[in-house]
Amino acid sequence: MSEVRRRKILIFRTIKEISEYVAKRWAEASGEEIDRKRRFTVALSGGKTPARLYRSLADPRRVLRWDKIHFFLADERFVLPGDPDSNYGMIKRNLLDHIDIPGKNFHPITILRTARLSAQKYERDMEAFFCRKNGDFPQFDLIMLGIGEDGHTASLFPGHPALAEDKRWAVAVRTNKAKRDRISLTLPVINRAKAVFFLVTGKRKARIIKRLLEGPKTGLPASLVEPARGEILFLLDRGASSLLSKIRTDARTETEARKID
Ligand code: 6PG
Repeated sequence: MSEVRRRKILIFRTIKEISEYVAKRWAEASGEEIDRKRRFTVALSGGKTPARLYRSLADPRRVLRWDKIHFFLADERFVLPGDPDSNYGMIKRNLLDHIDIPGKNFHPITILRTARLSAQKYERDMEAFFCRKNGDFPQFDLIMLGIGEDGHTASLFPGHPALAEDKRWAVAVRTNKAKRDRISLTLPVINRAKAVFFLVTGKRKARIIKRLLEGPKTGLPASLVEPARGEILFLLDRGASSLLSKIRTDARTETEARKID
């Protein structure tokens, strides 16, 4: 199957419905992977959109095997954990503080003297966890990503040299498109994932979503996410999908749009 055919667009009325869907998919996928290899690895994105999702996933009524789920970060701002901009801090406040997960199951990006040293440390931590073998990139079971209005994803920004990185697992990113230096997973790692969920909500994202899903090939970072053997889901609300012309946006809560081919 071509990569594009594995791309699906699901449109929801609310972030709560998206959260219900993601929690269901997490439960299914993590159950299978935990039975098979005794762990489920997820890289989480930062930004504002996923905070509600993380709070919903932390709902005590959800039965997820947190003791077997390992969280990494898709990217981080080069700030200390207590800084309001910290992705780790947001994930901790909205998810980790509310679930019974062993401390060893969360793998933060350690903030060292420079973003470059932090990226190198993160790469070493991932190598130890994934037991790096003959240059293979690590394979996450799931990577949750957002998309910026300029088409960036994780901390990979349009036109940045980091987009061409084909050896490192994590890189430091300095760009005038972001207030802070960043540390990000690289595209080869993202594209090795078994599944990538893009979570995009709000009208302000409608133009970039239309451009990415219905425009010509853009070369924008989010359009370079095409896992070779993975699934890509665009989890959108009505606002973010409001400019899409080819997709039914009828009223059902979980509208599985026809596949874009
Ligand atoms: C970050 C994210 C980034 C984010 C997009 C969308 O660290 O900011 O990883 O890629 O997902 O910028 O951000 P919002 O969800 O705040 O719109």
